[in-house]
Amino acid sequence: MDIRENQEIQASIAWVRAENARMSGEGKHRFVYVQTFGCQQNEADSEKLIGLSEEMGYTPTSDPKEADLILINTCAVREHAELRALSAIGNCKRLRESNPDLIVGVCGCMTARGERVEKLKKGYPYVSFTLEPPTLHRMPVQLAAVMRERRRRVALSEDNGEIAEGLPIFRTRRHRAYVSIMYGCNNFCTYCIVPYTRGRERSRESDAVADEVRDLVAHGCRDITLLGQNVNSYKSDTDFAGLLARLCEIEGDFILRFMTSHPKDVSDRLIEVIGKNVGKIEPHFHLPLQSGSDRILSEMNRHYTAGHYLGIVDKLRAAVPDISLTSDIIVGFPGETDEDFENTLKILRQVRFDMVYSFIYSPRTGTPAAEKEKIDAVPEEIKGERMRRLLALADEIAFAANERLVGKQLRVLCDAVSRTKGDMYSGRTDAGKLVHFAATPEHVGKFVYVKIDRADPYALHGSITE
Ligand code: 5AD
Ligand code: SF4
Repeated sequence: MDIRENQEIQASIAWVRAENARMSGEGKHRFVYVQTFGCQQNEADSEKLIGLSEEMGYTPTSDPKEADLILINTCAVREHAELRALSAIGNCKRLRESNPDLIVGVCGCMTARGERVEKLKKGYPYVSFTLEPPTLHRMPVQLAAVMRERRRRVALSEDNGEIAEGLPIFRTRRHRAYVSIMYGCNNFCTYCIVPYTRGRERSRESDAVADEVRDLVAHGCRDITLLGQNVNSYKSDTDFAGLLARLCEIEGDFILRFMTSHPKDVSDRLIEVIGKNVGKIEPHFHLPLQSGSDRILSEMNRHYTAGHYLGIVDKLRAAVPDISLTSDIIVGFPGETDEDFENTLKILRQVRFDMVYSFIYSPRTGTPAAEKEKIDAVPEEIKGERMRRLLALADEIAFAANERLVGKQLRVLCDAVSRTKGDMYSGRTDAGKLVHFAATPEHVGKFVYVKIDRADPYALHGSITE
């Protein structure tokens, strides 16, 4: 579906824009505030929500108090994320009290969960509408209906969603961008809620992806992350390896990243394309392992063994010797024994990941593992203890990996002033590592070369050489 051709959405955009123009004419400038939780896919979705809002006459603001439209883009992957989003939604209560015309829309994965939608309906009367991830592009339709009919639209949708091309996107930064290449997931890992919230896998046409990347590069973008719940199961007129090879042919000074990949879909051809395009494709692979135990991997429905995973690592290192490897690990999956957990630590020592994102298993209602958690849960204190051990080992390995870079000169794309380091700037190496260094505003958005002076487990510190 091309959004420019979708009459219902266009009519809604035009109607809200006219309303907003009328109110702006009366001196009430219209603002939108978007708060985002969760993964990069959500960040990319929020850029589309802001883009659509701008089309309707709203100006983005970072102050919720001046907003006329608040959109909370939620995550449901773990309970903690849901609770944070619910608390942000709760904060809208007093905002609505001081501005009765405020419209609050809740988007993202939580809105595809029946029990949460019920909760929003009953316990959060100031939520005006919900919008599930596969129907994100229908935000103007929901908004126009709420404004016109003055009634809430908080309900589950039946729609698995088509791919909407031509959506306006508000790019947060000029030099870095996300490009969604596929949506949804068919894998049904037994712990994961995503296949239920984001629907079935759908891939964009490679022409549409290539056009978007070409346009970004032409407008000065230097760092492009291809996004999908399972990017390497991308399938349209070509597969993911074919898509990457095609994007590498685009002229320009830019680097391609991608996430997240599934080990079962890492083909030899993909590794070959990555190996042949070092400098254009990041020398980094984020490959979630989840567990080092074959028994748990099978319980998780992951379709690979630890041995198969190690085989991929060997091939990746043969193709790109300095490749940075990062991973996701779940600790305390139901039924995980000490031996299973030791197997996970063993793989960490064997692979020596540059960074591990670790999560304590969080039961998600409606998934098979949540049923197993009821009868075979790992006790909380053991989950905590395993998490501490995993973090300690992962940090030690990450620190050693970063220390090996001390003394090296690396290409870094300079971002803004570092949030944590006073007036120092930060950036990312080609492999995606965070670097802090002294710079000036003119460096922002440009590639610079930084000599690494010092390392810690999560970042590098250095100085610009050119
Ligand atoms: N509990 C804990 N971690 C989870 N993840 C996904 N679902 C759950 C869950 N129910 C983790 C996986 C995934 C990452 C994005 O979040 O490791 O790769
Ligand atoms: Fe969830 Fe597994 Fe799909 Fe990743 S591949 S989104 S973990 S079901």
